[in-house]
Order: sequence, then C-alpha cells, then structure tokens
Amino acid sequence: MSTPHIDAEPGAIADTVLFPGDPLRARHIALTFLDDAVEFNARRNMLGYTGRYRGQRMSVMGSGMGIPSSAIYATELARVYGVRRIVRIGTCGGVGEVALGDLLLAQSASTDSRFNRLHFGDHDLAACADFALMKAVVDTAARQNVAVRVAHIFSTDCFYDGDADLLTHLRRHNIVGIDMESAGLYGLAMREGLQCLSVMTVSDHLDRDEHMPAAEREQGLARMVTLALESLGNAPAG
Ligand code: HPA
Repeated sequence: MSTPHIDAEPGAIADTVLFPGDPLRARHIALTFLDDAVEFNARRNMLGYTGRYRGQRMSVMGSGMGIPSSAIYATELARVYGVRRIVRIGTCGGVGEVALGDLLLAQSASTDSRFNRLHFGDHDLAACADFALMKAVVDTAARQNVAVRVAHIFSTDCFYDGDADLLTHLRRHNIVGIDMESAGLYGLAMREGLQCLSVMTVSDHLDRDEHMPAAEREQGLARMVTLALESLGNAPAG
C-alpha cells in the first residue's frame, strides 16, 4: 500500500509521529533517539522512520516546509496510516519578549494562510493545540525543570516579504512566534480527530535580527525531542 506521497506498508507507522520540517532531522532523530529505527518512507526524500522510545512505538517523519507540504503528509498519515498524534518539532521566528533558544509550546496559531478558511466556509477557525498533549508536555517540562512558554504563535505563508505591518500586529496581540506550519496542522487535527501540538525553539529574533548558531540549534532540537518523547508516554491518546 502507498499514498501519493508516502510509500509505506500498512502498520509501518506508529500512532504517534514526531514531525520536524527537515527530513534529515527526522533521520537524525530516529538514529539518535529511537531504538530499532526502520525507514518507512523515502519518496521525494521525505524520510520517515519507526522505532521505539523506552519500549513505546514511535515514528518520526519530515513534514517539509509550509502548510501545503505538512498538511499533505499529515492528512495521509491520519487517513491512511491511522496516525492519531502528531507533535511538530521545529524552529520559529521570535517577536517581542522572547529570546533565542526559548522553547515555545504553541497554544494557538493564527495565520495569513487561507488553508483553514478553505475548509470552514471562509470563516475564522480558532486553530489551537490539543489540551492533553499540551498538559503532558507542560507537566514533563515542570518535572524535568525545563523552561517552556505556552504561547500564541502565527503561521505565515510568506517567509520573505509579506505584510510589512505584521510584526506590529503580532506584538499588539502578544503573539511571540512565527512559523509556517502550525495553524494548518491544528485545523487539520480538528477535522481529522488528531491530537496535535507544536513544540518550537526560537531560532531567529525578528525584531533584533538575531540568529541562532548551528550548534545551538542542535541543542535546541535535542531538548525538544527529549521533552516530546518523555511526554508522549504520559499523554493519554485521544
Ligand atoms: N519566519 C517563519 N518561519 C520561521 C522563521 C521565520 O522568521 N524562523 C524559523 N521559522
């Protein structure tokens, strides 16, 4: 069996998927954090693996960049492979009172994308995280003394240019992170009955033109992956 974009056998993908943007990060996560990781997809080089973390079956797959790419994969994972939980692991731009390296848990994701409106009669959808996943990650972070910030974020279709007043609007609404995927994933999760949460490290500060060095990005990735994996064992599947 395969879908237009995922070339995996039925049952090859766990019910929980970590979802970094970069497929090479998916491979790195699988080889570093999972036991007995087996590749289940290489179509379009969007690598996906299934292995175990502390005995629990877990998959990790690249999502690509932006709402269209990540939504294609998430839809096929949910509808065809029975995936029930998706945790996006990524980086985001920071706005206002956040610092490079801060770990954000996206409670809500506003957007300039029309993706959710296309499914919702052109109305505004309140794209928000799954509460059980959020609680599990917040509780694990508290137990492990890892600083996290539950935050409003914004998913943009324009990495370059776009709305010249965007940062002003974001600051006005206490939105502190910008990514390119979460709002679409959250809307899709509502429709597909998935649990979804975005866990992101602030890698660029957009007010201050600061950028995280590569080594610190690696540390940020390891921190997010560890937090997510430790939390998922404690989050009841919805
Ligand atoms: N914009 C959108 N997505 C991002 C950014 C950004 O500045 N940095 C990391 N992901």
